[in-house]
Amino acid sequence: MLFKKNSSTQKEKSHYLSAKESREIAKQNARTIRALEKRKKRVASEEEYTTQMRDEKNIVEFDNLHTYFFGDAGVVKAVDGVSFDIPKGATVGVVGESGCGKSVTSLSLMQLVQGPRGQIVEGSIRFNMGDKAFDIAKIPLADMRKIRGEEIAMIFQEPMTSLNPVFKIGYQMDEMVLLHTPNCSKEQAKARSLEMLELVGIAAPERVYGCYPHELSGGMRQRVMIAIALSCNPRLIIADEPTTALDVTIQAQILDLLRDIKDKIDGSIMLITHDLGVIAEMADYVVVMYAGRVIERGTTKEIFENPLHPYTIGLQKSKPVVRRKVERLYNIPGQVPNPIDMPNYCYFKDRCHKCIGKCNGEYPKFIQVSPTHSVACYLYEQAKEEEKNV
Ligand SMILES: Nc1ncnc2c1ncn2[C@@H]1O[C@H](COP(=O)(O)OP(=O)(O)OP(=O)(O)O)[C@@H](O)[C@H]1O
Ligand SMILES: [Mg+2]
Repeated sequence: MLFKKNSSTQKEKSHYLSAKESREIAKQNARTIRALEKRKKRVASEEEYTTQMRDEKNIVEFDNLHTYFFGDAGVVKAVDGVSFDIPKGATVGVVGESGCGKSVTSLSLMQLVQGPRGQIVEGSIRFNMGDKAFDIAKIPLADMRKIRGEEIAMIFQEPMTSLNPVFKIGYQMDEMVLLHTPNCSKEQAKARSLEMLELVGIAAPERVYGCYPHELSGGMRQRVMIAIALSCNPRLIIADEPTTALDVTIQAQILDLLRDIKDKIDGSIMLITHDLGVIAEMADYVVVMYAGRVIERGTTKEIFENPLHPYTIGLQKSKPVVRRKVERLYNIPGQVPNPIDMPNYCYFKDRCHKCIGKCNGEYPKFIQVSPTHSVACYLYEQAKEEEKNV
């Protein structure tokens, strides 16, 4: 197969990988993957992956996370140095355009990145277990099973593909309870499943308990997914575009439900969405991602009232607003750079209309604008320096 390469790295005029280059990439990938898989399958003592939270008030701390996919055409740096925190009891919204690495970040937290090609290669994900903290990036697969589902639950975007079509809802719900609750009888599991179905607002839990997934509506299926995710009282719920497949009224109901339940179980939510409206309504903090990196993070108020990064400003401008008349909605010109061959300067520079000379230099570091607001853009470094000199 032939693949296009970025002109900045090519030695000759050719835009394609030669068979020899392809073989070399495959060989190198196989070597790296083997080493990383071996590390995941090792038997490790708890001390090896026990760590300390930077701040005990956080439930999760992503610290310089790198998750790559080792493909035939090169390495896709899907997550390329992501750092942000999820405070206890808070909802953190993650936004960014398609393909920027939102899902891969959340899958890394669950250790569900599609292996063997997808691997966490660097960084840590500290998870607060209450009396101790684990580094999820270092936990072997066997030990991760205790955390997944029990401590962290995930609600996927498309409930039809997450529910098994050949098993009844009741069976799938009981399985989750039985797996994670020691000494639980079948009757207790059923009672718990029915209780959860009622909690998520299903009117006839007994009937739904005996149904197959295809017998339910999309909204009901999403409620069942939420019920399954919550049945073990997780500390953290990851909701990856939980309402994208639903119509607006059901969307609002599901969001209300998530909010209610979060308060009931006193958990935290990592909410991934394209929809800025959903973020504004649900989130306490917002993380804006672009091409595998976080480019801005802050409280929802800060991001909506004072967006700083030109990309965040562009995102806000491209959102329709009731009673604001525009000929055409704004769109950010250009495209996300090729993930196999990212530039060594700011990834947004080629689409940015505000770039300055410094933007040709190395990727900008985070600049702290307020205790909760930071942005990775040279424009604000300059502003800060000017502030200091006054
Ligand atoms: N299994 C995979 N194999 C190879 N590359 C992958 C795989 N999964 C994701 N990627 C790549 O990782 C990058 C990030 O993908 P991701 O699914 O995290 O995007 P996203 O931000 O969730 O987008 P969306 O909003 O469309 O869901 C993309 O470039 C994608 O092509
Ligand atoms: Mg996604």
